[in-house]
Amino acid sequence: MQLAFGQPAAARPTSEQVSGPFYPVRLPADQDADLTVIAGRTARAQGTLVYLSGRVTNVRGEPVPNADIEVWQANAAGRYTHPADDNAQPIDPHFDGYARIRSDADGRYRLKTIKPGAYPAAPGWMRPPHIHFDIRGRHSRLVTQMYFEGEELNAKDRFFDRLSPAGKEGLLARYGTPSAQHEPNALVAVWNIVLIAG
Ligand SMILES: [Fe+2]
Repeated sequence: MQLAFGQPAAARPTSEQVSGPFYPVRLPADQDADLTVIAGRTARAQGTLVYLSGRVTNVRGEPVPNADIEVWQANAAGRYTHPADDNAQPIDPHFDGYARIRSDADGRYRLKTIKPGAYPAAPGWMRPPHIHFDIRGRHSRLVTQMYFEGEELNAKDRFFDRLSPAGKEGLLARYGTPSAQHEPNALVAVWNIVLIAG
């Protein structure tokens, strides 16, 4: 790939995906990087903890500092806290399904969440676990969805499966090895984001 100004690209831009119908109607008061607990409460969200981190860069591999990153997702049972979600699964009152954070000076971001459940999108179509992202750099905006490696439903998903192999690779979070600081059974996952211009 060749970009403007004749500079070769170092990385493929992360593919776009639809924002879907479940962007929050009203943004919650708690927008911090920990989705597993609602500020002021002690109870925690149900589900498997996921420590998700990564880096926002442009296609030349340069960090995108201070990117505005919005995240929303279903709870562990596959239910969004959204009036249009008619999934019969229960809402988790302790799950804060939204965050708005910034990448740091090196483009890095970090979230603590729970692994979202799969949910039915239409007859015969289960959405695989995924997290919605809306990322705004200085010049680029990307709306997409992040998926988890190794999910059987990925290959049957109408949004994920239409992508090229490279496009799929770019939307897959890869699991790492939890350290002693992580809770037992917690997952560690890395997903890097490539904006066209940053
Ligand atoms: Fe979704």
